[in-house]
Amino acid sequence: MDAAEPVWHLYSSPGELAEALADRIADALSEAISLRGLATLAVSGGRTPVGLFRALSRKRLDWPKVTAALVDERFVPPDDERSNARLVRENLLAGAAARLTFVPLYRPARTVDEAALEAARAIAGLKKPFDVVVLGMGADGHTASFFPDAPDLAALLENRDGRQVLPVTAPSAGEPRLTLPMQTIRAARLVALHIEGEEKRRVLTAALAERDRPVSAVFDRAGDGVQIYWAP
Ligand code: 6PG
Repeated sequence: MDAAEPVWHLYSSPGELAEALADRIADALSEAISLRGLATLAVSGGRTPVGLFRALSRKRLDWPKVTAALVDERFVPPDDERSNARLVRENLLAGAAARLTFVPLYRPARTVDEAALEAARAIAGLKKPFDVVVLGMGADGHTASFFPDAPDLAALLENRDGRQVLPVTAPSAGEPRLTLPMQTIRAARLVALHIEGEEKRRVLTAALAERDRPVSAVFDRAGDGVQIYWAP
């Protein structure tokens, strides 16, 4: 089955995008709850999603039936300013959304490899496929923690042994990372790629044409198209 075409949703401002994408996510979560009694969401970190998290936290839905996880995490403690779990706690777990169940990825292990094994056990109970996965993208074309300069990038993307959480070490990543595998990301019922700015739009357009960046692998999937959300 060929991958469906990506769908671009273009907005005039990050604020307008945040509200629209938050509505889309809230609708998908509510539909999941009505169909299956619960909903699962995985979100990315970085700077871009802060406005989206705040908009989503204001949406009215049955939040106690939602479990949120991270697409990826820096191998840092939850109080570290680089922590994605801290970003989610400070911006999404507010208001009504504070009643969702949040399952972080970071585990205080000796190595990121051990942390990945423990994180996999922590998310093993989450119902998959995820109903919603929200991705970001770096200007180098990385998404989640699949960095172009990761020495084992091909093996990480292939994930032949079917690991549920992957340890990543890459020069451009800063600290070691923990990431959901691309197979888990692509299997989500709704995959939203949220990017902002002209540079990232140019990088993504080229990555779609050349299929030469880690983010390109998100689009090598069967099923419904990836929903790209962009604002200047
Ligand atoms: C992270 C994210 C990562 C992010 C991109 C874009 O932990 O940093 O999961 O994949 O989506 O790096 O980050 P910005 O939104 O800060 O540009």
